[in-house]
Amino acid sequence: MADSQYNFPFRHLLGIEQLSCQDITGILDQAKAFEEVCENPDVKIIPALQKKIVVNLFFENSTRTRNSFEIAEKRLSANVINFDAASSSLSKGETLIDTATNLEAMRPDMIVMRHNAPGAHILMARHVNASIVNAGDGAHEHPTQALLDAYTMREKFGRLDGLKVAIVGDIRNSRVVRSNLWLLTKMGASITLVGPPTLMPLDMKETWPNAVFSYDFDEVIPKMDVLMMLRCQFERGTGMYISSQGEYAKHYQLNMARMEKAKKDAAVLHPGPINRGVEITSEVADGSNSLILRQVTNGVPVRMAVLYLLATGSPGAKD
Ligand code: CP
Repeated sequence: MADSQYNFPFRHLLGIEQLSCQDITGILDQAKAFEEVCENPDVKIIPALQKKIVVNLFFENSTRTRNSFEIAEKRLSANVINFDAASSSLSKGETLIDTATNLEAMRPDMIVMRHNAPGAHILMARHVNASIVNAGDGAHEHPTQALLDAYTMREKFGRLDGLKVAIVGDIRNSRVVRSNLWLLTKMGASITLVGPPTLMPLDMKETWPNAVFSYDFDEVIPKMDVLMMLRCQFERGTGMYISSQGEYAKHYQLNMARMEKAKKDAAVLHPGPINRGVEITSEVADGSNSLILRQVTNGVPVRMAVLYLLATGSPGAKD
């Protein structure tokens, strides 16, 4: 396996916001080396983290991220503990900080954490010596999702710089959009955010002056290299901001009629889980432009890279 020779300068992966272009490229290049490990039937598992204990601490449901992290950890030979929030002492009223300090007392090396409260992983990082990997915090950040999205785009187009990317749909509730905005703008892509006005908070225009905002999906589609569709997050209240799912689909669903207007080689991405027939139709999600399952495959080497770089980072790594 080729090693990228890159040293990650942080003790935790809290978000994309704190990363430089060099950090992002270092992670993606290391992931490329690990992709070769995953694809080689004679290798598949390497001893890189065999002395490390990793706790997967998921307070929110997950299919892709949790299993992808666990497979990445096992491919690196880490010792894996899966914390089950439903059967933990949280149900007896234990606080997040008490949970953190009690986990720390058992000296894990890394904690991969998903929580519905924005910033919960930062609180955790303040109370433990273990490296924290943010696996999604409320509507704030989902850094490994943005990294695997970038990896997938770079794999298809050979670059991120200059790519035209539309991120479409439930901008208001999405942590995926925030991590992708940080990452793609740092790496020189141009971003157009598309959705109904009710799902695009006005303050985002101040935070992201370089992003273009549009309410007209049909006008945007022909110009884009990448159409990244977001899940309507009904569990976070999206239904209150749209008149009906049918009306939403009429203006913002990616369907075959809209794909007719797209560039021939436009890439369709979606972080999953998909609301089939709402933000995207099955014909497009399962069609020839879709890289949705490729995103899932790429999640494993990308997460291997993050865990490996954190475990082998310099002793003076910053928080
Ligand atoms: N993309 C993503 O975070 O999916 P899960 O919620 O299934 O982990």
